[in-house]
Amino acid sequence: MTGLTAEQITAALGTHLVARRAAVHQQLDSTNLEALRQAERGAGEGLLVVAHTQTAGRARLGRTWADLPGGCLLFSLLLRALTGAEGLLPVAAALAVAEAVRDQLNLQARIKWPNDLVLGGRKFGGVLAEPAGGGLFAVGVGVNVTGDAADLPRDLAAAATFLSEHTDAPIDRLSLLRAILRRLDEAYLALHGGRAGQLIERAQALDCVVGSEVCLVAAGKEVRGVAQGWRPTGALVIRDRRGHLHEFQAGDATLQQ
Ligand code: BTN
Repeated sequence: MTGLTAEQITAALGTHLVARRAAVHQQLDSTNLEALRQAERGAGEGLLVVAHTQTAGRARLGRTWADLPGGCLLFSLLLRALTGAEGLLPVAAALAVAEAVRDQLNLQARIKWPNDLVLGGRKFGGVLAEPAGGGLFAVGVGVNVTGDAADLPRDLAAAATFLSEHTDAPIDRLSLLRAILRRLDEAYLALHGGRAGQLIERAQALDCVVGSEVCLVAAGKEVRGVAQGWRPTGALVIRDRRGHLHEFQAGDATLQQ
């Protein structure tokens, strides 16, 4: 990442586990892929991989993630999930980004279940967790910081936004990244310290689909109804028109106007 070094990111960061080791690359295929490769070579919990740009950025549901070189935060962390609670790692990451953006930039960042990050109804960030073996996951985070969404590939531009489109203040990517890492470290400790419930409550409070009419598509199934709330696993509960409850651990939710 231009102007950012591993030393700048980790110096006096004060985290317990997150980003205790860091590697910064000018260009990678994908920071998630690099984290998976590092896990195969024995890298442990807490490794941070950062890239200035990606040539094959990965997104949820087999999609690709495009960036504007130097205008985004693109990073992955090797983190350990509790068995049966794998879905909570991306929730912790999305919460860390949303809270850091709110705190540092005074912007009303929201989470869109399960872990999209939105401002003014448009997406500025996302999280993708991929199993790395031995209970570890590569938790990848992409944040559009400075740029114009119109410069992204045409199929993504309309639904995307950059933080800089919402504030006139200059945005320091290093400070923002360090704030996210500190919050994620705190969330990670909560997750492993039996305090996952408070993370879910905080994430649900920032979620923009709860209470609204949504169309949810997952594994070829489509359900329309009102999003009721998050389960302790991070699953979303939807009540359809007949009053039946449906629970989804993953999927794509579209707000109905
Ligand atoms: C999504 O919204 O579907 C998740 C997008 C995750 C993108 C980030 S960018 C850094 C990391 N490396 C990747 O290849 N993907 C994640």
